[in-house]
Amino acid sequence: MPNYLIVANWKENPVTQREAIKIFDSVKRGVKSLKNVEVVICPPFVYLPLLKGLTLGAQNVFYKEKGAFTAGVSPLMLRDLKIKYVIVGHSESRKYFNETNKVINKKIKELLWLKIKPILCVGETIEEKKSDRKLEVLEKQIKETLECVSENQVKGVILTYEPVWAIGTGNNCSLKETKDSVLAIRKIISKLYNGEVAKNMKILYGGSVDSQNSASYIKEAGVKGLLVGGASLNAEEFIKIVKSVG
Ligand code: PGA
Repeated sequence: MPNYLIVANWKENPVTQREAIKIFDSVKRGVKSLKNVEVVICPPFVYLPLLKGLTLGAQNVFYKEKGAFTAGVSPLMLRDLKIKYVIVGHSESRKYFNETNKVINKKIKELLWLKIKPILCVGETIEEKKSDRKLEVLEKQIKETLECVSENQVKGVILTYEPVWAIGTGNNCSLKETKDSVLAIRKIISKLYNGEVAKNMKILYGGSVDSQNSASYIKEAGVKGLLVGGASLNAEEFIKIVKSVG
């Protein structure tokens, strides 16, 4: 079992199948021999069936299994494609697709039911940070998105601390602040469930990760992996990130 999880979030990139396959194949070659890291590529939905040979994740899902839900992509469809992970609650999905804690909660329950692992993103905005509301925000996000998720089910959830102000800005969160936030998240989980669940929960960090800062998050901030956006579109840089951890 690999110890660490490195997730590539390609977002709405690249714009051709050719480029998608090119990045994917380069990454695949570059990380082949690494045993201590599970690499998960989360491309846009349309590329999922084209990419083979690394673990795949989706960037979102709708919570209904099938039916008259125009534009929906269902967890059953993802399961059929052998998708192992799905990102939910990303701040960009919250912002541009109106994903609320309530909707995220429905998605998480559906995914867990089908044994697909949700990668749940939580994090505060710069305004919330400045007004000293980070902990309150994290607690609300975690509590509401995990509502009615049982102790047994929650073991399938991967939590990602992604401060909104650190995403795509080059302004990555300091190691000390990441460490404190991860501890705070474990405390929240321990209140909602128990100490054992909190201790074992896999927590990742995301926000302007690159090959210069990646290793220190793992070594010094107490995270078990990383969610990488911009830097994951450059195969060479992404391979460096994976190697720095593994
Ligand atoms: P970034 O994005 O690495 O480009 O900051 C991370 C994310 O949004 O998941």
